[in-house]
This record gives sequence, structure tokens and C-alpha cells, in this order.
Amino acid sequence: MNRTDEPAVVESWNEWDPLRHVIVGRADGGCIPPPEPALDAKVPEDSDMRGQWGPRSQETVDRANERLDAFARLLEKRGVRVDRPTPIDFNQPIATPDWRTESMFGCMPPRDVLLTVGKEMLEATMSYRCRWFEYLCYRPLLQRYCEDDPAMRHEAAPKPRLTDADYRSDYLSERIGVEKRLKWTAEKHFVTTEEEPLFDAADVLRFGRDLVVQHGFTTNLKGIDWLRRHFPDHRVHAVNFPGDPYPIHIDATFTPIRPGLILNNPDRRLPDDQRGLFERNGWEIVDAARPAHNSPPPLCYSSVWLSMNVLVLDPKTVCVEATEVHQMEQLDRLGMEVVPVDLRDAYAFGGGLHCATADVRREGAREDYFP
Ligand code: ARG
Repeated sequence: MNRTDEPAVVESWNEWDPLRHVIVGRADGGCIPPPEPALDAKVPEDSDMRGQWGPRSQETVDRANERLDAFARLLEKRGVRVDRPTPIDFNQPIATPDWRTESMFGCMPPRDVLLTVGKEMLEATMSYRCRWFEYLCYRPLLQRYCEDDPAMRHEAAPKPRLTDADYRSDYLSERIGVEKRLKWTAEKHFVTTEEEPLFDAADVLRFGRDLVVQHGFTTNLKGIDWLRRHFPDHRVHAVNFPGDPYPIHIDATFTPIRPGLILNNPDRRLPDDQRGLFERNGWEIVDAARPAHNSPPPLCYSSVWLSMNVLVLDPKTVCVEATEVHQMEQLDRLGMEVVPVDLRDAYAFGGGLHCATADVRREGAREDYFP
């Protein structure tokens, strides 16, 4: 069932076609990184993570790994081939000629680093200093895919300098307050400047010929423009979600389930003037169910909306976190077979089911869903 000895084939054009091969992250050595300009702006004001950094406890690492390993086994039982990254020692200082920081982050979640578009796997620029070297954890896999699949393209976006010029200083003041943050994100006044192209792979959703990219804290307009030049055969659409005070990664905000159906976070609705593409083509954008939890687990960056961070296995089957009863119920009602996955103990390491994975292969070809 698990055909790891067969040559790998890279190809994935969207978020929903039948999943055949995927990378699942690991929690090994995960760290809470020390302060850096990009990071403080992204840690919620009321988070228990403000002011602390260092390696996460072995107990939390072990528990997260148990969940991730079980998730990998579940996928394998369903016929999906699973690969895992190779962790490096994240708890060591790193530097470039421009900056130094005391530790890295981890190799969860792969979705943030790797963007698979067709036969290409692209390493994102990333926008935090502590995640600058994270691609190294995936190089053993990408090298193997390259050897196995002569048509696979391994690409890396230009590494950014990430000097202080990349970050707006008014985001670095002590306490900004959620009200001001909402005003700023509505005005598209984000922490990252337009100094150089920046994007995280998890800000990109793939819809065949079209890529939908969130403009926010982790992806700037130059990053979106770089993607547009890099994928000349795609149409690249910038979107933003004014209701999100911390717009980081699109996959707890806007979640395609199958052709014609997208879940949208009801607190972060896509503005009317950005809906045309979907509406003209008969796609339905429905409010996602409310999360089952009132707060995220301890030492977690993400919000309770990881409830909608689901992994679609095929257009009729979706993996949902097992405690997210409302989200499971909604997807069931929408005609999906729901596979519960116990993953909440891994959330603190960087996200939910979609974040924790990166596509290598899905069946199907590049379609035009928005002709
Ligand atoms: N910004 C999202 C939230 O907290 C979390 C997104 C996590 N996604 C990811 N690919 N790491 O609601």
C-alpha cells in the first residue's frame, strides 16, 4: 500500500484532487523563537507566548509527534504515500551578513515553506528570520524527487535579506491593540514593507490555472508580483481579509473543498469587490462553522480557526480535526465524507491539518475553473 520504493512523481494543481503523495511535518526540536521584528507583530496581544522563547518541552514535542505519526499512518492506510522532513538542530544561533538570531523554529508546518504547482516544488522566500533556513529540512526529499522524476522542477525563490527595512516600525511598538490592528489591516497597512519580494507558501491557494494569494503580514505585493512573473501560465489573484488582525497564511481563512465550494471564515469575509471571480463562475463561498474551542492550546501562534484548516483527500473526502465537531458536522451536511484526525496537540508547532502537510502529488491535470 505504501509504495515508498517506487519512484516519486511530483504533480499537484489544486487543493482537492485525489491525494497520492504528501509530506507530513515533524515536531522534533521545535522552538519558540526569540524576538525579531517580524515575529512580535504576529504574536497575538493576549498570547501566553509574549516574552518567552527557547526550545519547547520534550513532553509537548513527543505528544505532537505521536499525533503527526498517527496522521501519517492514517493517510498511508488510505493509500497516500507519506514522506517526512529531516530536522536540523533548530536550537542554535543563525546569521547572515545582515542579522543574527538565537534560534530557529522547526519543521512544522511544511505548507508554509513548500509550494507545489504542477510539476514544480518551489521553496518560498519566507518572511521570518527564524525560518530562513527551514528549507534545509526538505532538501533530502526534494533531491530524491528530482532524481526520481526527470520532469520535476525544484525551484527556490530569491532569499530575502530581511533587514529592518522589511518591517514597519509602527508595528513594533509595545501594545497596538486589536482595534488599531483591524484598522491597519483594513487599510492594507501590514507589518511587512515593499522593500523586496516576500511570501510564505501557505498564503497561496491553488485552483488549477489560478493562484489565489493572501496579501498580509507574511506575503507582500512584491512577493505576489514575483509569483506572477514566475508562473506566467497562471493567473495570480491578490486577496485580503480585513477582519483578520493577524493576517498570516490563508488556510484558516479561505478553504476550497471541491470545485465550486469554498469555506470562508465568517470573521474574515472576502470583501465584495474581490468575489467576482468566484461568483461569475458559480462558485459558492459559505461561512465556515464556528470553532469548537474558545481558545487555542497553550503556546500556540494560531487562532481557534484552525478548525477550518482541513486536508481534502479527494472531492468527496476531507480530514477534519477530531474535536472540531461543528466543522465536521457542516462538512458532512455539505456532502463530504469526514475523516476525524486527532491533531490538536500538534497545533502549537505551527498549525492544523492543512498546515502540517505539503502536497507532492494529486491526481488530475491543470483545469481552468474560472474561464
Ligand atoms: N493565521 C491563521 C490563524 O491563526 C493560522 C494559519 C496557520 N496556517 C499555516 N499554514 N501555518 O487563524
